Amino acid sequence: MSQKKYRVIQWATGTVGSAALKHFITNPAIELVGVYVTNPDKAGKDAGDLVGLPPTGVLASDDFEAMIALEADCVLYAPAQGPSLIDTACRLLATGKNVVSPAGPFLPNTWFPDVAERIEAACREGNSSFHGCGVHPGFSGDILPLTLARLMSHVDKVEVTEIIDKVRNPMIYTEMAGFGLDPQELLANPRRSPETYKAFYSSMDMLAKGLGKAIEKVTVKFEVAKARHDIKHLYGEVKEGTVGGQHYEWTAWADGKPLIVYNFFWQLGDSAEALDPLWEEGESCYRVRMHGEPPMEVKLMGMPEADGRRPFHGLPWTGIVGATAVPAVCDAAPGVVSHIDLGVVQLPGIAG
Ligand SMILES: NC(=O)c1ccc[n+]([C@@H]2O[C@H](COP(=O)([O-])OP(=O)(O)OC[C@H]3O[C@@H](n4cnc5c(N)ncnc54)[C@H](OP(=O)(O)O)[C@@H]3O)[C@@H](O)[C@H]2O)c1
Repeated sequence: MSQKKYRVIQWATGTVGSAALKHFITNPAIELVGVYVTNPDKAGKDAGDLVGLPPTGVLASDDFEAMIALEADCVLYAPAQGPSLIDTACRLLATGKNVVSPAGPFLPNTWFPDVAERIEAACREGNSSFHGCGVHPGFSGDILPLTLARLMSHVDKVEVTEIIDKVRNPMIYTEMAGFGLDPQELLANPRRSPETYKAFYSSMDMLAKGLGKAIEKVTVKFEVAKARHDIKHLYGEVKEGTVGGQHYEWTAWADGKPLIVYNFFWQLGDSAEALDPLWEEGESCYRVRMHGEPPMEVKLMGMPEADGRRPFHGLPWTGIVGATAVPAVCDAAPGVVSHIDLGVVQLPGIAG
């Protein structure tokens, strides 16, 4: 059976972009036509070499203007955050390429009307579509609980919790995120701004609307845990008594009650010997607790590895959830498209 091919450019090959690139190289429904890199050491290399796969004949390029001009059906846009993020996304859209973006923004979102208008205008100019994607925001706090709610007759509250052990899942930004600081200093000046929930608001809003509710307000809480002893991680060491854990909690209220709670527990380790307090035991995961009738709990985590422990695939999931949306976004009507617009996406080339 002949299969429609979607011509795709992979834009940036960090952790998220590399997971998407692997998917594009191996999916027969996709034709990889370009790979944009900023790192000069990667420019000129075959796309396959960049992700440990056989040669593809497509060479990575750092020629920005050539990549903007290249013809393609879609761009998986996964650059680092930066001041030109929206400008470049708009240029790609205006040239007629659909854009699937884990880098944000996660539209539609009432908090950023100017950005929304710029993206919509670029879509109109290029007759193209834009889809913001990711594991969270973009999956764990919206389409996943909405799907789970299909198995319930009544929903009281939805709790979506990200638990990441940053020792086992090292993050280059560990120090920048405030680990190792004096707890009072971080509490007074959290590295994740109290406004950050606005970037996740489209997820909360989509979920609330899907449950037939309107969000009245979002309340924010932040607390820290102390390291009980010096804790080594891949990028350094956190001293005893300094910040070893962080908990962000954002609660969306409807009808005067909490309806949706997003929790983020970032911890250096997962034992009570290491952290005071230890909020969450157990391995890194996304956990969705659906309170209501019947109540349920679902955890997203990897399969056990050789040591019996489960890996956390948050960054690869972010690339793949975008990559698997590419055919649906290419086939969608022009404009900003959310999960609701895409419906149940078809997944050509994924099985077998
Ligand atoms: N929604 C979600 O759930 C979610 C989750 C995680 C991350 N994200 C977002 O996804 C994006 C990619 O994350 P990541 O973990 O893959 O990041 P990363 O590993 O740091 O990779 C980002 C890549 O961007 C390119 N780059 C570097 N400096 C740049 C610059 N100044 N301007 C433009 N591009 C630059 C580089 O690509 P080359 O190496 O190819 O040169 C780099 O490898 C980020 O914007 C992040 O915020 C979203």
